[in-house]
Amino acid sequence: MLINKIEDVRNQVKEWRKEGLSVGLVPTMGALHEGHLSLIKKAKEACDRVVVSVFVNPIQFGPSEDFDKYPRTLEADTKLCDGEGVDVVFAPTPNEMYGGGRLSNDTLTYVCPPFFYVNKLCGKSRVGHFDGVCTVVLKLFNIVQPDFGFFGQKDAQQVIVIKKMVKDLNVPIEIVQCPIVREESGLALSSRNKYLTEQGKIDALVLSKILNNIKVCYNKGITDVSALKETVYSFLTDKHELEYIEILNRETLEEEKNANKNSIALIACRVEGVRLIDNIYLGE
Ligand code: PAJ
Repeated sequence: MLINKIEDVRNQVKEWRKEGLSVGLVPTMGALHEGHLSLIKKAKEACDRVVVSVFVNPIQFGPSEDFDKYPRTLEADTKLCDGEGVDVVFAPTPNEMYGGGRLSNDTLTYVCPPFFYVNKLCGKSRVGHFDGVCTVVLKLFNIVQPDFGFFGQKDAQQVIVIKKMVKDLNVPIEIVQCPIVREESGLALSSRNKYLTEQGKIDALVLSKILNNIKVCYNKGITDVSALKETVYSFLTDKHELEYIEILNRETLEEEKNANKNSIALIACRVEGVRLIDNIYLGE
């Protein structure tokens, strides 16, 4: 069932609650692919009823980012959700979510995650991005009031920041983190892969290759983070614009001198001007 109005989704969830049913929410920006579907499948297993939100959230895009050209494929998304047995697709308009007017932080109450979690990785180049993400996710949590929220490890910093928000603000929702889904080639699925040419997709394999190589080196006993990070340069060509490569604690995003079983390696790199991210746990 497709619902656009906050009130309607609330009423539907209220009915389910009366019947004592558990509810899962999978927040998305649409352009659904197998990565999103893996979250939906997990939600279906864990919950009696599943809501998928499809909302390209204006306040998490910077002024020079791809908000206008972000793929919007609601009809196909709804079909995919139907195929997975999703109970409600919640697809509000920006006006329904935010009302009219300016969306600056003079006019809207924002959720701002702590500086320590956002002054690095994607938060460094995408200033204000995680304020936008946390704000919309908390709004969606308050609208749907699910028992569980499902997020992908693909956006590792995002799920860490959301877990932190839930803990700090006592949000009564359990966050379930799901593993990264990849193409057979190793390329992590992303709605932004649609922007790449066939050659671009080949060049984009460098991200997963670099991460796998770091893991191989770690498994061989190299733990010095600087030495592990140095290994990336042999993979990069003029097709790649590296934004960051980091090896951090996978729960806290703290820097450590030596990689260990709790480390995560994370990369952001532009290919054909498309900003791609990926990550890998070293300890498993
Ligand atoms: P979006 O990029 O559409 O992603 C929705 C969810 O799907 C996120 O939790 C993301 O981590 C997960 N996902 C994307 N690609 C994946 C993959 N290859 N494997 C596993 N999971 C994957 O992330 C957002 O939207 C937004 O920031 C949102 C949380 C909806 C807030 O607007």
